[in-house]
Amino acid sequence: MICLAQNRQKVALIGDGAVGSSYAFAMMQQGLAEDFVIVDVIKKRTEGDALDLEDAQVFTAPKNIYSGDYKDCADADLAVITAGAPQKPGETRLDLVNKNLKIMQAIIKPLVDSGFKGIILVAANPVDILTYAAQKFSGFPKDRVFGSGTSLDTTRLQVALAKKLQLNPQSIDAYIMGEHGDSEFAAYSAARVGGEPFLAAAKRAGLSTDDLAKIEDDVRNKAYEIINRKGATFYGVATALMRISKAVLHDENTILPVGAPVDGEYGLHDLYIGSPAVVNGSGIDHVVEVPLSDEEEAKMQASAKTLKETLTNGMA
Ligand code: 2OP
Repeated sequence: MICLAQNRQKVALIGDGAVGSSYAFAMMQQGLAEDFVIVDVIKKRTEGDALDLEDAQVFTAPKNIYSGDYKDCADADLAVITAGAPQKPGETRLDLVNKNLKIMQAIIKPLVDSGFKGIILVAANPVDILTYAAQKFSGFPKDRVFGSGTSLDTTRLQVALAKKLQLNPQSIDAYIMGEHGDSEFAAYSAARVGGEPFLAAAKRAGLSTDDLAKIEDDVRNKAYEIINRKGATFYGVATALMRISKAVLHDENTILPVGAPVDGEYGLHDLYIGSPAVVNGSGIDHVVEVPLSDEEEAKMQASAKTLKETLTNGMA
């Protein structure tokens, strides 16, 4: 007898703002996670979203989606944390640190107290700092807690480069690394297009060093451009979170850019920072150390320094 119920997977979404609800929608569209609980202090919103989203299952895949509480997280395989104050126009991600560290603390305790033993994926900003905090507050092993890191920034880079090279962005194998924020950088030297070093393909397409620096800068500032126009960013990050969730739920062993726990890679320790890593059902299998040029290596160290300083001030 086949017992399908044994194969059910559960995701707990904590934070039902614009990012959270877009993520729930993306997960519904992909038919991922048979059970999906939405937790937020604003109960009317989680109830409304659950009612609204459950109607979509008719066109995708059956799903038990409901508004719940921390106790409903006990048997979740994955908890995705998007709760936190968002950036206002003119604010940097790091400006949010004090407010959002308090919120993270208030989330992790009841989450852990529920008996939750799954993977924690953090998306709230500043994401590298909050991921570090989530791991410390939870006491979970580092590979079971990770962040969205530079996943979205990497897609922004792929999209920008694809426009220049007239390619599908999926064919651009290039990463944004470092902080998910103002000190991030493009690891151009390791990038590939169809096996060819990206820098050679870029040269052939007539892109100068200045052009590449401008693209890197535009990627770094894209969130500001979106926030200035519509007040927030949510579809991009929500889709990146869906992709990462799929890698966890399907135990994929896929290399994805995430906010990864470094322990010796890039000479860094005790930090979460944007780097590709192998993602599977246990969380982070291992961090992939990208071979960087000297200039990129210096940018990685500078980005790590910014994060360390923020941690020293924020977690004190
Ligand atoms: C983003 O990069 C604001 O972190 C958010 O879209």
